Amino acid sequence: MAKFNENFLELKESYLFSEVAKRVSAFKEQHPERSVIRLGIGDVTLPLGKTVVEAMRSAAEEMGQAETFRGYGPEQGYDFLRTAIQKHYKAFGVELDADEIFVSDGAKSDTGNITDLFSKDNTVLIPDPVYPVYVDTNTMNGRNIIYINGTAENDFLPMPDRSVHADLIYICSPNNPTGACYNRTQLRKWVDYALENDAVILFDSAYESFVSDESLPHSIYEIAGAESCAVEFCSLSKTAGFTGTRCGYTIVPKAITAKSADGREMILNKMWNRRQCTKFNGVPYVIQRAAEAVFSDQGMAEARAMTDSYMENARIISNTMEELKIRYTGGINSPYIWFECPFGMNSWDFFDFLLEKAGVVGTPGAGFGKNGDNWFRLTAFNSRENTAEAMKRFRTLLSANG
Ligand code: MLT
Repeated sequence: MAKFNENFLELKESYLFSEVAKRVSAFKEQHPERSVIRLGIGDVTLPLGKTVVEAMRSAAEEMGQAETFRGYGPEQGYDFLRTAIQKHYKAFGVELDADEIFVSDGAKSDTGNITDLFSKDNTVLIPDPVYPVYVDTNTMNGRNIIYINGTAENDFLPMPDRSVHADLIYICSPNNPTGACYNRTQLRKWVDYALENDAVILFDSAYESFVSDESLPHSIYEIAGAESCAVEFCSLSKTAGFTGTRCGYTIVPKAITAKSADGREMILNKMWNRRQCTKFNGVPYVIQRAAEAVFSDQGMAEARAMTDSYMENARIISNTMEELKIRYTGGINSPYIWFECPFGMNSWDFFDFLLEKAGVVGTPGAGFGKNGDNWFRLTAFNSRENTAEAMKRFRTLLSANG
């Protein structure tokens, strides 16, 4: 009989957002008459921008004509999109070669897939709380994970501890779930730590387009030296409403290496390319044309209008927290609001309480790590009307029980 990968036995029974969805479905089944507002998974609700839709339509037309039809595309992404992304990085003052950019179906897949390149023997440093994909995928591979605590005391922005060695370091900034965002000085320290430890930073910048504070970095490559120690993952899911459309990009600079057992310096860019060519056939042409349109002036303006609208929802949520004097972070350079569960509840109990009493779905902090046990995440991605209604119910519920 085939032998099973025992590492899977170390995983929680279901993926965080599947567990949330399961509980919400069970509630809906029992209470079909109740209205439920979802501020749980960070799924967008605004439709794609006009420029993006037009690009998709015209690419679909091309696919329907013998002269312009395309079959397999380059696994790394079409040049037109790679150069559009390259230009986008120039706006942050970051120079990349187009062949350092790999188009993907999203940051979730690539933050997991990148683990293919690294030996099981690496020590992985992961902040707690954080997006659960990093922990789950490294657990599937049986790697040793060490955690670094994000707490209210350090504003959920843990800093490197020089007495601890790590080989791989995950950073998500602006952070999912806390919404906290590292400044340049803090990222400088992480880059220095990675360089001192010969480590690789796996930097998830999926929420960079929500950064409005001009002093904050959008990309880790704004920090000198990061080009030789950091891989960056980004996505159009939240930037331009691509959660269902699927398109992201991963930057693997040519200067980053990892050591083979026989002492050779392996170039990660080459190895990632090798991995992608074997396991990935690229993002559909129509979607890549849509993604290219996001980076046009008009496409960017449409994307900005979307993020601005979500940030208005974030303000409605943060204002509610202020009003109720609940300790929270996020909601400024991030679409997530992370708050301490009221009444000293743990986060799964608060999840059930909020769903049952107010018909509002959030995400329990415990799903992002033990430091989230008494914290809770709400997203700003629902409609204005639903967000306002959810906060009205939230205030009523808390006042009635306060
Ligand atoms: C979240 O809610 O944390 C995100 O939507 C998950 C994701 O992007 O995969």
